[in-house]
Amino acid sequence: MTTARGVGCGKVILLGEHSVVHGRPALAAGLSRGATAEVTSSPDGLTRARFVFDTSEVDVLASDESEHSLGRALAALLATYPEPPPLHVTVRLELPAGAGLGASAAMGVSVSSALDQYLGVTRTPLERATQTLAWERVFHGNPSGVDNTMAAVGGVALFTRGQPLEPVRVRKPLTLVIGHSGEASETKQMVGLVAQQLEREPVRIAQVFDAIAVLVRNARLALEAGDLRALGQLMDMNQGLLSALMLSTSRLEDLCHAAREAGALGAKVTGAGGGGCMIALAADASAAQTILAALQSLGAESFVTEVGA
Ligand code: PMV
Repeated sequence: MTTARGVGCGKVILLGEHSVVHGRPALAAGLSRGATAEVTSSPDGLTRARFVFDTSEVDVLASDESEHSLGRALAALLATYPEPPPLHVTVRLELPAGAGLGASAAMGVSVSSALDQYLGVTRTPLERATQTLAWERVFHGNPSGVDNTMAAVGGVALFTRGQPLEPVRVRKPLTLVIGHSGEASETKQMVGLVAQQLEREPVRIAQVFDAIAVLVRNARLALEAGDLRALGQLMDMNQGLLSALMLSTSRLEDLCHAAREAGALGAKVTGAGGGGCMIALAADASAAQTILAALQSLGAESFVTEVGA
């Protein structure tokens, strides 16, 4: 075979980020946007990759010693294959990186699926989710596994670390508006910040995680019942607890506030926080346009997406 192709999808966490790292459930949804990868044979005997982002490109060699995390992640993924030949990999990202939308996992899953196709390996989506943890560890240190699982499986699901994934049957597809704060954030650093709080105040922080878990379970019921109003309220409550964990910023608070003022049923940070994206739940497509305009008027790069269709 000359060229093999693979895709991985981005994700949003509807509720439950961070507490999911500490064993509580999260509700997440795959996005139609993500990453695509192409694998071809290597003309020069070296395994290298080109990552094409919105406004930049990065070329790396696959090596544990690479100074670029993408080079180390590629080496970690290739190490899960018995004896891979030298290859050239090209990855195109259709999401903002470092923005809470699971960009690194989408890239890892796209590369894994192209590699499997190239090398004639068959794997289920859940097996791919497990395999790509090696890639995610390079970026996240202590990933819960929710990003790479959603990137490989898609749909809407309740994810709990170390437990079988529970697909959620959504009564009505969700229309979400995603707004980028324009602030960069690093998942590893934000996960570390929460770990420090847990170490300093184990009882109080565990109570916050438990409270988020209750919101997540109720949100699952709301999704199954098609009760968008209840879902929105639960998202707002989750946002309050994320702020208490110091994961929001004044810019993200402003965007959530503007979205609610424009009619959003609920709005919150999604992903690691400390910057990156927020999501707002719209009652329907026309309400989403009003929310989109409100976020754009604050200069936030934003888009509308549907999940659970
Ligand atoms: O910001 P992202 O897309 O990497 O999402 C991270 C989600 C966390 O719950 C904060 C971390 C994790 O591993 O689950």
